[in-house]
Amino acid sequence: MNTITEPGLELFREGGDAGQKDKWTAERVLSLRWWTPTLVSFRTTRYRGFRFTPGHYTRLGLGADDSIVWRPFSLASAAYDDFLEFIAVLVPGGAFSEPLRQLRVGDTIRVDKASYGFLTVDQLAPGKDLWLLASGTGLGPFLSILHDPAVWQHYERLIVAHSVRHSSELAWRDEIAGIPKGELFAEAKATLIYLPVVTREPGATALAERIPLLLADGRLEDAAASPLKVATSRVLVCGNPEMTRDLRKMLAARGFATNRRGIPGQMAFEKYW
Ligand SMILES: Cc1cc2nc3c(=O)[nH]c(=O)nc-3n(C[C@H](O)[C@H](O)[C@H](O)COP(=O)(O)OP(=O)(O)OC[C@H]3O[C@@H](n4cnc5c(N)ncnc54)[C@H](O)[C@@H]3O)c2cc1C
Ligand SMILES: NC(=O)c1ccc[n+]([C@@H]2O[C@H](COP(=O)([O-])OP(=O)(O)OC[C@H]3O[C@@H](n4cnc5c(N)ncnc54)[C@H](OP(=O)(O)O)[C@@H]3O)[C@@H](O)[C@H]2O)c1
Repeated sequence: MNTITEPGLELFREGGDAGQKDKWTAERVLSLRWWTPTLVSFRTTRYRGFRFTPGHYTRLGLGADDSIVWRPFSLASAAYDDFLEFIAVLVPGGAFSEPLRQLRVGDTIRVDKASYGFLTVDQLAPGKDLWLLASGTGLGPFLSILHDPAVWQHYERLIVAHSVRHSSELAWRDEIAGIPKGELFAEAKATLIYLPVVTREPGATALAERIPLLLADGRLEDAAASPLKVATSRVLVCGNPEMTRDLRKMLAARGFATNRRGIPGQMAFEKYW
């Protein structure tokens, strides 16, 4: 049996590992936002010792004590927020998706105390344009990065392309547009270029094909009015594994490289399955 003192505080297990600190905390769900019946973003309380870099992921645990399902989830909230935020798609029959479907405000969710990953701007050499290319829930870590004022100081252009099947899945569209108006961004140097891509709803967006195709035929660069150049462009890609694989190949063919042995590169990737 677990003894839970208070959400966000450390937990101690009774039994075999009595007295040992757990690697996770129990947090409370503060709010849920259903974008569609299968796409939800939610906020939880934040353990005061939880640290992460925008772009990182952590692990979430749901289910009964004897059958907890853990899955990695990117942090969508800002590093300075006093809550954590996540976005999740419900996959039919998925072991995590099923308990997630039942999640309600006030419920407990386990959050790993550590954060992980390499989809961070510190993996990249200095540059002028930061391209954030996401499919589906892959937008989550980019929301966190976009809330980092330093990013708006270091780059001249922040180009966000978000590919989804239906326009209702363009999560945080208005919030993203509003970021530069926030008081933390008064000194921002960068311009935001937001490119929504809806692939299964003809006419919903000007760009309507998968991101690798849009990159291959030049339409992505045209829409951003910015050429992708090794010297000045930096690229982060997140989401569908086939998309990350295809974009990696295409960018490598144009001279882009990932961080190697501590030498910052021009691109970084995270695939979700
Ligand atoms: C580093 C990392 C970070 C991740 N961050 C997120 C996140 O922020 N939000 C999120 O929703 N998921 C994220 N995922 C995926 C997530 O961990 C789970 O796979 C997902 O929630 C489904 O879990 P499941 O147990 O229901 O199904 P699983 O058995 O894990 O997955 C079943 C199938 O569902 C599909 N699938 C899984 N995840 C997604 C997805 N995100 N979008 C579309 N199809 C998917 C794939 O076809 C997969 O084979 C991340 C994965 C990794 C590796
Ligand atoms: N989105 C929904 O309406 C919906 C509803 C119920 C359940 N689900 C479940 O959720 C999962 C899929 O979720 P999702 O729609 O967020 O993710 P997704 O299938 O990865 O699609 C998200 C976006 O990525 C694009 N994409 C897909 N494969 C690509 C590739 N190889 N290269 C480049 N782009 C690619 C899609 O374009 P295309 O449209 O061209 O594929 C879409 O624009 C599935 O398990 C599904 O069963 C989804």
